[in-house]
Amino acid sequence: MRTLIATLGMAAVGLGAVAPAQADPEANMVKAGCTACHTKDKRLVGPSYKDIAAKYKGQATAVATLTEKARAGGKGSFGPIPMPPNPVAKISDADLKAAVEWILKQ
Ligand code: HEC
Repeated sequence: MRTLIATLGMAAVGLGAVAPAQADPEANMVKAGCTACHTKDKRLVGPSYKDIAAKYKGQATAVATLTEKARAGGKGSFGPIPMPPNPVAKISDADLKAAVEWILKQ
């Protein structure tokens, strides 16, 4: 029994070691509520990640600009429907930037 517990304990430590050190941007966006309006390849209330990535392809300043816009909200890039602000209580600066970087790779 003791050996079994020790083995299970080591397995748990092992699993912890393989878990990614960085949080998953996709999971953070689900948590922050982005997915209520965005999906990977279909327009909902907001544009799909693919449409956003296509629009800003090759633009060096896109990450900074879009991180700011996702934080403050705004409209006009994809039409008249505004994106509401996404406050820091929903998603941290680092996670928001990682989310935008991830969106731009879709
Ligand atoms: C209530 C709906 C809604 C939520 C929630 C939402 N968005 Fe949006 N998002 C929109 C709409 C609508 C637009 C299009 C705005 C425009 O046309 O400028 C948009 C546009 C964007 C863009 C492109 C902006 C541009 O100027 O091209 C990015 C990037 C983005 N959203 C990221 C996010 C992230 C990240 C989150 C979560 C933290 C999020 N959105 C949450 C509705 C939403």
